[in-house]
Amino acid sequence: MTSAEDALRAWAVHGRVADFPYALFLGHLRSVGKHFLDAELLRLLDEIRRSVAESDSDSESESEGCDGPPFLHRFLDVVLDKHDDRYDYPSYTALSLLTRPAPADRHEALRSRDEMVLLLLADLVRFEERASTDTPDAPHVMPPSPELVAKRARLAVRVMESAALRALPSGVVDAVAVAAVPGRTPGGPLAAEILRSAAPEQALALSASVQPVYVLHDEYLFLRTLQSFETTFTFMSSALATAVRRLDDDRPQESAELVGAVADVLKESLPLFSLLATMRPEAFQTFRTFTEGASAIQSAGYKTFESLCSTPSLARLASSAYTSVPRVRERVVNGQATVQGTWHALIAAHRLDPADDAALRAAADRLESVHQRWKQTHYRLAVRMIGERSGTGYTQGVPYLAAVLDNRLFPAPDRHSALVG
Ligand code: HEM
Repeated sequence: MTSAEDALRAWAVHGRVADFPYALFLGHLRSVGKHFLDAELLRLLDEIRRSVAESDSDSESESEGCDGPPFLHRFLDVVLDKHDDRYDYPSYTALSLLTRPAPADRHEALRSRDEMVLLLLADLVRFEERASTDTPDAPHVMPPSPELVAKRARLAVRVMESAALRALPSGVVDAVAVAAVPGRTPGGPLAAEILRSAAPEQALALSASVQPVYVLHDEYLFLRTLQSFETTFTFMSSALATAVRRLDDDRPQESAELVGAVADVLKESLPLFSLLATMRPEAFQTFRTFTEGASAIQSAGYKTFESLCSTPSLARLASSAYTSVPRVRERVVNGQATVQGTWHALIAAHRLDPADDAALRAAADRLESVHQRWKQTHYRLAVRMIGERSGTGYTQGVPYLAAVLDNRLFPAPDRHSALVG
């Protein structure tokens, strides 16, 4: 029996939710990989989940002031996804432990995105830097060279700086130096400062949300990159939903500002792909053997933001792009309002003056162009990492990504029906 199993058995007898041995168990999980957890240990965790569910219904076990099951229950659901045969992209990336509904106020929503991205990338920088010490954190097979660690820190900092300038107290990052030469803020001290001020529940969510399927160092980078993008998509979706409402309320300038803010934050996030491109293809090709069935084609955040720009074509709605996200698909089929649809309705009703129309056009064009860059970079990364292999989301892989390059978020009316899936 492992010490993690001992600790869990002891906890199951007397334990309080607050004393759950997260650190010990996660250390064990990361040293073997989630795909390789022992069957007996999984049965024990399943029993623990059942008893946690019973005490959840007594509702005194944890009070977190938010909807959904308490944290420990959600944590066990993520751990047991493969055991339950429920394994997919949201459970692989442990999104239920990280994401919360974006605040309604757009500034608060951006702040919430910035804080989470900073935590995720600070944790990544810390993890990478510890790889060069005598006691690296698990997963630690195929450690990176010191040069690779330094390169990853520099690339993470390129995404962190703009968020840090908005969300951290002034002076933590030197605004003048960033304006002169971006990406030069020392990553280690910045990460330490961010992690030092993390609240205990943030630190727990950070730690609990790294559940790699295997033991290779680079999977940590993969998970944190996906999670940083997902956090960004959550903000983008909420800002676009607000943009639709502002249009409906005849406040097109505010709507244009929101669409512009979405373009800016996606642009700032593009270096995440450069960061992920430092993943070693041989590491990726090894651990992805155990991620079959989990693919970002199941990202509800991405499809929500996309489908809030304009209604996807019937072909795309019928393809695995949307059948992989049934709840998003259902909202679209039920007539979800979009930026483009609401904008065109205002024009048809003569409720939009030319200056407002031009502001919307400019913001939509910016978002379109940065999203095209996002798709092209993603496509190139996939070519490099998987070549001709099929996708873990059961598409052909790269040919699927090549086909979606022609899609547009704001298609010209006559192009719309020609969109591919
Ligand atoms: C090693 C890096 C990556 C590779 C090899 C890769 C590969 C793929 C492949 C092959 C697909 C097609 C679906 C499938 O069969 O799985 C896909 C879809 C997708 N990927 Fe990635 N991907 C990578 C990184 C990322 C990252 C970091 C994100 C950010 C969240 C992302 C977001 C998406 C999205 C949103 C789709 C669905 C696109 C659509 O349906 O139009 N991918 N990816």
